[in-house]
Amino acid sequence: MIQGSTYLNPNFPSPSQIKADVIKNGYGVYNDVISINFIKESREFWLNYFRTNKPSADVLRGDLVLGQNNLNSFTDSDFWTLYRYFDFLWNTPTHEPTRNACIELNRIRNITLGLTDNYGETYNPQCYGFYNSISYYPPSVGRLQEHEDGYPKDKSTFALLHFMVPLTFKHQDYADGGLTIQDRQTKEIVDVDNIMKPGSVLFFDGALKHGVRKIIPLENKEPIGRLAFFAIPVFFHKNTEMAAKSSANVMASQKSGRLSNILKRL
Ligand SMILES: [Fe+2]
Repeated sequence: MIQGSTYLNPNFPSPSQIKADVIKNGYGVYNDVISINFIKESREFWLNYFRTNKPSADVLRGDLVLGQNNLNSFTDSDFWTLYRYFDFLWNTPTHEPTRNACIELNRIRNITLGLTDNYGETYNPQCYGFYNSISYYPPSVGRLQEHEDGYPKDKSTFALLHFMVPLTFKHQDYADGGLTIQDRQTKEIVDVDNIMKPGSVLFFDGALKHGVRKIIPLENKEPIGRLAFFAIPVFFHKNTEMAAKSSANVMASQKSGRLSNILKRL
């Protein structure tokens, strides 16, 4: 199935293998399955990108709209501290090889889930799609609180299956910290970054508890941090939904304004 891919090696795991591992343990780590040349190229591009471009917004979580611009973002909050680049399929790709690899990996995810292979690449009435997320956790501060991901209850009949391709590596680019996932079967918290290396891919059930422990820099070495890319599946909003949302917010703020005026008068 992977014959002829520039990015994925011929030994890439089959959808049935991924499905079996995710059902059993909640995740699967597969080593030496992605082109090392591509990993090097993507790593250099995105490390340089985050070094030389300032973020223009907070990291978004939900409320993504069809047609929006690509976005370089940063947030430092109780929940997370990271830079995240959002690359949407309707825009010119910021780094074409990373975009293409995400599309290929999304097809494998779709087949694993029993969906049409290009679902999310084309328009559909559900507004289902994905965006390519390149996440950079800087040394000493980068982290993500443990959480579980899920689709809105009325939107999806299939599981939220994530994949992740690491571009920097524990013991090489940072000393400790990184991604953990709770194993479905044993309930143990697994240090997945510890078992990944250049050319690895991870698939995991987003409904399992996962997070990124604070990235600890290596001593006496240039501090790099943790860099990885995903294609995050999402049900995009239409403009009409966002307009309804913002008018509901205006009404709520008018209501609370009226309430605060009443309170002032008391
Ligand atoms: Fe998550």
